[in-house]
Amino acid sequence: MRVLGIETSCDETAVAIVEERQGGRRCLAHALSSQIEEHRPYGGVVPEIAARSHLDRLDQLVERAMSDAGVDYDSLDGIAATAGPGLIGGVIVGVMTAKALSSVHRKPFIAVNHLEGHALTARFTDDVAYPYLLLLVSGGHCQLLEVKGVGHYQRLGTTLDDAAGECFDKAAKMLGLGFPGGPAVERAAQSGQADRFKLPRPLKGREGCDFSFSGMKTAVRHTIEALPAGSLQKHDASDLAASLQAAVVAHIVDRCSNGFEMLENTPTAFVAAGGVAANIALRTALDQVAGEYGVPFVVPPVELCTDNAVMIAWAGLERLNLGLTDPLDFKPKPRWPLDAASA
Ligand code: KG4
Ligand code: ZN
Repeated sequence: MRVLGIETSCDETAVAIVEERQGGRRCLAHALSSQIEEHRPYGGVVPEIAARSHLDRLDQLVERAMSDAGVDYDSLDGIAATAGPGLIGGVIVGVMTAKALSSVHRKPFIAVNHLEGHALTARFTDDVAYPYLLLLVSGGHCQLLEVKGVGHYQRLGTTLDDAAGECFDKAAKMLGLGFPGGPAVERAAQSGQADRFKLPRPLKGREGCDFSFSGMKTAVRHTIEALPAGSLQKHDASDLAASLQAAVVAHIVDRCSNGFEMLENTPTAFVAAGGVAANIALRTALDQVAGEYGVPFVVPPVELCTDNAVMIAWAGLERLNLGLTDPLDFKPKPRWPLDAASA
């Protein structure tokens, strides 16, 4: 089974080809082009710029992935693309390209939910068996899910306001640390003192595993405003970055522990995915939580935690294995929860 996957839902344009043979799985090619430089002047992703940029780059990336893999279209079993959720202009570019390839080469089209891509990555990298507990932490999402099988997800908790990555991105902007904020906060935190500023621990002691990050973001703003006017120094920014990182990690740990208590089935593993899962302090803390509950902690390599096309090709392959394909009139979805029941 060999599938080409396309990712265009945010600010990475990416194409990958993955293959599964006699139980072994490999990535034959992954061509990825980040738009970070185009969005940097605006301090965030501009949807219109993103869509145009995907349109400019995607054809060449498809060609590059095909030539890097050294395969021809005849040898593909399916064409997958992120069909939502995400910035709809970009999603349309990816979906239309995948539909065109599918139509011309007479291959099945598979509409992949971007979140399902993140959710199933650990099966590609570590062959994790169902069911497992998944923490999905990115710039647009923060959720805990029980992954029971392809298409079978139960959402245990989600953010009531901002996503974790969004909180890092907005705080980094206030601290003058640049874009994207998560890696900048992590870097600044290395030389900061986490105990200098006390940031709130939202929902502490409360049942359930919903998340909330907007209070921390507001507390960062109030802390900056309380400094003498215009006096935010580099060490203040580092201390505040360290305090924020500690607060975010403590909050996520608290919520994940509750998540373990809410599971219906004994999980085979605790899996983290999404861009924020690249954060080392968070990884270390989550590893400890998994240990307390006696399951392995699995986190894909950083380049497969952030947005990529390998996860889309892989989710497409898993769906195709089950005979799950989509018609060419499938409509891209700006919103598309993984667990319809809790939407
Ligand atoms: O999964 P992703 O690439 O895109 C979305 O689907 O959102 O995640 C991007 C998010 C951004 O908010 C970025 O600031 C955050 O992940 N991020 C990090 C780190 N690397 C990326 N947050 C904390 N620490 C990091 N090292
Ligand atoms: Zn993502």
